[in-house]
Amino acid sequence: MKYTFLLLLVSAEALLLSVALAQQESMPYQAVANICATCTCLSAQDTNHRLHQTLNCAMKNFEHILARWPPEFGSQHADMEIVASFSGNRIRVLQQLPATNATLTFSCRHCGIQQLEVPLFMDVPNVEALYLSWNEIKDDALKPDLFRGPFKTTKYEPIALKDLDLSHNSISRLDRKLFEHTPQLRKLALAHNRLSVLDAATTASLASIANLQRLDLSHNGLLTLPGDLFTKMSNLYQVDLSGNEFTVVPGALEHLGKSLQQLSLAGNPLAKIDAQSFRHLDALRRLNISEMPMLRTIELGALQLPALEQLDCARNPKLDRLELVDLVTSRNLTQVDISQNALTTLTLNATNTTSWPRLRSLAIAGNPWYCSCELLQALEQAGAPQVLQAPNLAVARCDTPYLLAALPLTNLTAQQICNMVIPKKYRAVEDDPPRFLRRRYIILTVIIASVVVVAGLIIGFIVVCVRRRLKGNDFGVQPIRYTSVRGSNLSAFSQLQPVSVATKFNNAAAAAASAAGSTGAPNA
Ligand SMILES: *[C@@H]1O[C@H](CO)[C@@H](O)[C@H](O)[C@H]1NC(C)=O
Ligand SMILES: *[C@@H]1O[C@H](CO)[C@@H](O)[C@H](O)[C@H]1NC(C)=O
Ligand SMILES: *[C@@H]1O[C@H](CO)[C@@H](O)[C@H](O)[C@H]1NC(C)=O
Ligand SMILES: *[C@@H]1O[C@H](CO)[C@@H](O)[C@H](O)[C@H]1NC(C)=O
Ligand SMILES: *[C@@H]1O[C@H](CO)[C@@H](O)[C@H](O)[C@H]1NC(C)=O
Ligand SMILES: *[C@@H]1O[C@H](CO)[C@@H](O)[C@H](O)[C@H]1NC(C)=O
Repeated sequence: MKYTFLLLLVSAEALLLSVALAQQESMPYQAVANICATCTCLSAQDTNHRLHQTLNCAMKNFEHILARWPPEFGSQHADMEIVASFSGNRIRVLQQLPATNATLTFSCRHCGIQQLEVPLFMDVPNVEALYLSWNEIKDDALKPDLFRGPFKTTKYEPIALKDLDLSHNSISRLDRKLFEHTPQLRKLALAHNRLSVLDAATTASLASIANLQRLDLSHNGLLTLPGDLFTKMSNLYQVDLSGNEFTVVPGALEHLGKSLQQLSLAGNPLAKIDAQSFRHLDALRRLNISEMPMLRTIELGALQLPALEQLDCARNPKLDRLELVDLVTSRNLTQVDISQNALTTLTLNATNTTSWPRLRSLAIAGNPWYCSCELLQALEQAGAPQVLQAPNLAVARCDTPYLLAALPLTNLTAQQICNMVIPKKYRAVEDDPPRFLRRRYIILTVIIASVVVVAGLIIGFIVVCVRRRLKGNDFGVQPIRYTSVRGSNLSAFSQLQPVSVATKFNNAAAAAASAAGSTGAPNA
């Protein structure tokens, strides 16, 4: 029973294989005769007498790859290394690769690839690196058996693939079993794809790569990472999540506490980094939290990273709070970039003379520094002025107080600043400029307003007086003139300006009455 089943399986596989072969034969390969005249073939031997063959067919207007390796490479490929490039051709369908036992690096970037023939590496079990970035690969091209190796007695052999670059394609999900045949995969680049949501299959697919060391998921529009993505990966030491849509540091990272050494979160819309964000990341040596347009605060406790050596926290235009004290935990710190932020000061507790014995570069330019005693002390503790003058560093300058504005920070010492008496007038401005300005503006506004009101009252009073006098003269003395207008021409007049005439008349009557009543004017 068992055997018949196995037999059935084998025959089914044989059928499939023949179908695959037929398919492959139906599609032409690039003609191979005299190929080293068209492409570039190079041969070199290393010190261990190992042969390295290079086949460079980049930008030759090919529509297919070669059916065989150039005869110049010999017939015995075992213990040989081949590096083959077909980049920059127009290869819509990447066909099954020609058989070889050599260790192979294969690249076809900018090829316009849309389809990949399954299986690609049936006769190339020692393929180690595959670079297919900048193509048009979509989800349906990545079939589960794509990477399966040669069939041996009862199962497919795994292939040796270690390094896979699928960046700059149109991938939005991965098949659950895509990496079933690549147990040695160490480096996977999926940058600039459409993996904005990692669904269950994609997550299972990535999580199955147990030996993964480097993962690039940058620029995919990712909002979150599934919590169980990294639970089985104990060797992952480099993760690039830059250029995504994360608003908080993904919690899934805490499963990488023992292995993660390099993390980039640059270019994400994080608003703050709280104290819990990087907890458990005790092996982290390089952290990139630059270019975050929304980042305002890095809370106390967030950057307590004992193994940290390089911190890149630059070009965060809203970042005005960073706790340097946290970094005292990182005794191996060598390079810090906090330039082009909105920082005004830094504080360190002056307990130890040198907090970071290995620090050689501290980039702080482009911040609106308030050059206080505190700031200068903190910088000197960090190793200023030497660390501020490392090669390639821009000059950092004071923004305030007014007296020191635009002075290079390296020209100042803590001793000078701490002993300096900043004139009261300036200090007041620096201590609390907005409130002071506001109070000043309020007083000014009140004064101007009262002047306007008083002037208005005076003018109004004068106008009233003059008008009363005028009215008294015009209407009080000769009321008969109006009566005559009313009697003779009023009907014709009121057709044109009914309101104005009526009010004029009323006013005149009222004025006359009040003038008569209150003052006993000459017309009475
Ligand atoms: C690869 O090596 C195996 C034995 O290890 C051999 O049977 C096979 O013919 C070789 N294939 C090529 C293409 O050299
Ligand atoms: C940090 O990320 C930004 C943006 O991706 C990049 O420009 C910068 O070079 C990175 N810093 C380091 C030290 O790699
Ligand atoms: C600091 O560096 C030294 C030598 O490179 C290393 O032995 C030590 O473990 C590092 N410290 C931390 C906390 O990683
Ligand atoms: C500085 O040290 C004192 C005790 O020595 C502590 O109370 C204070 O919180 C520390 N300040 C900072 C910013 O860590
Ligand atoms: C000062 O630095 C030394 C190591 O150089 C360390 O052992 C000590 O604990 C530090 N003291 C304080 C108060 O941080
Ligand atoms: C800073 O100091 C250097 C010498 O130490 C001097 O040449 C330079 O003029 C100073 N710059 C300013 C702006 O004072």
